Amino acid sequence: MAKLGIGLLGCGVVGTGILRVIDEKRALLANEHGLALDVRGIVVRDVHRTRDAVVDLDKLRTDWLSVCTDDEIDVVIEVMGGIDTARDAVLTALRNGKSVVTANKEMMAKHGQEIRQVARDHGAYIRFEASVLAGIPVVHTLETYFQLSEILRLRGIMNGTSNYILTRMHNEDLAFADALAFAQALGYAEADPAMDVDGVDAWCKLQILLDCIGVPQGARVGTDIEGIRGVSKASIAAAKRQHQKVKHVVCAEWDPQSGFVTWNVGPQVVSPEDPLYAIDDVQNAICIDGDVSGTITLSGPGAGALPTASGILEDVLKIARKLQVSVPV
Ligand code: HSE
Repeated sequence: MAKLGIGLLGCGVVGTGILRVIDEKRALLANEHGLALDVRGIVVRDVHRTRDAVVDLDKLRTDWLSVCTDDEIDVVIEVMGGIDTARDAVLTALRNGKSVVTANKEMMAKHGQEIRQVARDHGAYIRFEASVLAGIPVVHTLETYFQLSEILRLRGIMNGTSNYILTRMHNEDLAFADALAFAQALGYAEADPAMDVDGVDAWCKLQILLDCIGVPQGARVGTDIEGIRGVSKASIAAAKRQHQKVKHVVCAEWDPQSGFVTWNVGPQVVSPEDPLYAIDDVQNAICIDGDVSGTITLSGPGAGALPTASGILEDVLKIARKLQVSVPV
C-alpha cells in the first residue's frame, strides 16, 4: 500500500479533528484508495498540554521548520492560523517540494497569489478548500465544474458566526450584543470576534474565491466592508413585518463590458424566494450564477472541526492522486 507522509502544523480543535478522521477512515483509505496517511510530525506550541487520545504524543514537535523540511513528509497541513509564521512555514514547505493544504483564510486572502506562484515554481501543490466555507466544496466546484459557463456573480452567506447571531436576533428578538455573547459561549466566534462581526472574515473568503477564478486584483472594485454590529432590533423587526430576514451577504458581480468585478459585503434584507433566506444558524451558502448553468447554490456547515477536516482531507486525497501516490481501488 502507498504511504503519504503528513506533517500537521497546529493541533487545536481542527488539527485534532483531522487526526480523528484519519484514524476513523483508516480502513476506507486503505480499501478504496490504496493509501495510508502516515502522520509523522505534529507541530504545537505546548507539548505538555493535555490532548485527546487520538494525538500521538511521540509525534509532537515545537519547530515548524523540522516538519517543513522533513524528507519523509510529502504533504504539510497548515491549521495553526495567524498570518506571518503560517506564511513562512507554507512557503518553506513548498520550496522544499512539499505540497500544502491549508484552512487559513487570512493568509490565503493576503498572500494567496504569492503562495500559488511559489507552489507552481517548485512543482508542488497548494490546496485551500477548507479556507472558504470549511467542507462546502466551493473551490472544487469553481475549479472543476465551470469549464463552459462564464461566472457572472458569486453571492453568499460566508460567515457562520454572523449568520448565527442574526438568526437568534430574528427568532428571539435579541439585541446584537446578547446574541454575540451566545455565539461566543458556543465557541463559534473567532478568538477576535471582530473578524466575524465586522465582515472581514467573509471578505477574506470572497477574495480567495476571486483569486481562485483568476480575477486580477486590479479588476476588483469594492465598496466598504460592513459587518453586523449596526443591525438593530428595530431593523430586524421591520424585516420580519415584511416576512423578510436580515442576512450578512457577500456579493461579487461581473460587468461583462469592462471585465471589472464589483464586490460588496454587508447586511441585506432578503425575501423568502431568495436562496439565502432559508440559510440559518451557522450554516453557510454560496450561489454561483453562470451564463449557461443558471444559479447553482451550495450550502452546508461552513465551520466546525469535522466539516473543516473534511475539506482538508478531501484536498489531501486530491494531492495524493496528482502525485500518483493514491490509486483508487
Ligand atoms: N469564524 C468563521 C465563521 C469560521 O464563523 O464562519 C469558519 O471560517
